[in-house]
Amino acid sequence: MMGACISSEEYDQQQSSEDSDTSDEIQASSTKDSLEIQKSSTKDSLEIQEYSTEDSFEILSTQNVSNVKDLRRNPGYTKLDSFTYDEMRMATRFFRKSELLGEGGFGPVYKGLIDDTIRSGYPTTEVAVKVLNHEGFQGDTEWLTEVNYLGHLQHPNLVKLVGYCCEDDQRLLVYEFMAGGSLENHIFTKEDAPNMLTWSRRLKIAINAAKGLAFLHNAKRPVIFRDFKTSNVLLDANFKAKLSDFGLAKDGPLGDLTHVTTLVKGTPGYAAPEYMMTGHLTPMCDIYAFGVVLLELLFGEPAVDKRRPSGETYLVDRAIPLLIKNKSALTREIDPRMKGQYTSKAVLKVAELAYSCIKEHPRKRPSMTDVVEILETIQKHELLEVKGNKVKGGVEVKGNKVKGGGKNKASK
Ligand SMILES: Nc1ncnc2c1ncn2[C@@H]1O[C@H](COP(=O)(O)OP(=O)(O)OP(=O)(O)O)[C@@H](O)[C@H]1O
Ligand SMILES: [Mg+2]
Repeated sequence: MMGACISSEEYDQQQSSEDSDTSDEIQASSTKDSLEIQKSSTKDSLEIQEYSTEDSFEILSTQNVSNVKDLRRNPGYTKLDSFTYDEMRMATRFFRKSELLGEGGFGPVYKGLIDDTIRSGYPTTEVAVKVLNHEGFQGDTEWLTEVNYLGHLQHPNLVKLVGYCCEDDQRLLVYEFMAGGSLENHIFTKEDAPNMLTWSRRLKIAINAAKGLAFLHNAKRPVIFRDFKTSNVLLDANFKAKLSDFGLAKDGPLGDLTHVTTLVKGTPGYAAPEYMMTGHLTPMCDIYAFGVVLLELLFGEPAVDKRRPSGETYLVDRAIPLLIKNKSALTREIDPRMKGQYTSKAVLKVAELAYSCIKEHPRKRPSMTDVVEILETIQKHELLEVKGNKVKGGVEVKGNKVKGGGKNKASK
């Protein structure tokens, strides 16, 4: 086994030294679409600690890798494959443009196929290959964080890391291919495009994503995802959702600690206000971000819309007045592409849940376990309503035909 393992005392020392690190002078720098407040000095090593198998769906390894040298010496992750750069080049047909799936802060992502011709005996596997862009703002730290978390944790609602490539200064991540792409790719498509995201699919996606977060939060050593947003929710061909991108993930507080203090990293529009102000990170920050994604699912609007006048840029700011007291205005704002697919009762319940998730006071937010339970109850009732062809809350469901519910927005 590799990667020096440290005791919990050592870990606490490390954690508190990071706490004090953040009191150093910080400088704000806004990068592309992501907000980052960075210290002038950066750490290049990751925290190391043990994971307990308790409460976890599957733990693949018990130790983290502290740096790239260690990883090369002894990867320790039995379920992760180590690929060569040449293998990845062949799998992606020389990183062909036509295979490009998208590009984020880490670098471009290509579709790839690994099979017997790439590596003898390898089962045919469709993959997504993420390649570190050396000119970007991410590097070994984010790459290793991803390998460490996804090398340890496996759950039906976390995207599977198939392996990685760490050759010279190349850093690649090889994931299971998610045929549906990201939730972001679907949710903001133009109105004339066929609407793949029906109400029942949105509910299912919300439940899947909530289960992924609940799994992380309920691990013995809780994990805070820190970058929950529609582009990090990937969909398979059946609209099953999985969380991707652990580059910013962080171990949650243990024992009497209420939070971990970190550099503020994340995405504007999703980052919890208390985290932005103090750098105090708790699982409640993920719950806030989940509330924002619920609003995006309900309204079909992005968390941040820079085309809108200031004061209306953030979806949360536009949604709160509706969530507080204006039920009829709220139902009128529901994404018109879902017209006739929902009962008002269900959307109002989801809106209520979203509102509780984005409460300013973190302690007033529900836990992810509560969120899963509430969403599953809403889903169950919604199915019963539709099956029973009942008329509820202004939405009439007759056989397959539905009247009412939602207005048709002329333009988006
Ligand atoms: N496993 C995958 N299967 C299929 N497509 C993927 C996969 N991973 C990523 N993608 C595609 O690549 C795009 C870029 O993903 P990436 O996670 O690098 O950036 P992002 O989430 O858009 O931005 P950010 O860097 O802010 O997280 C995604 O939007 C998605 O369309
Ligand atoms: Mg992403």
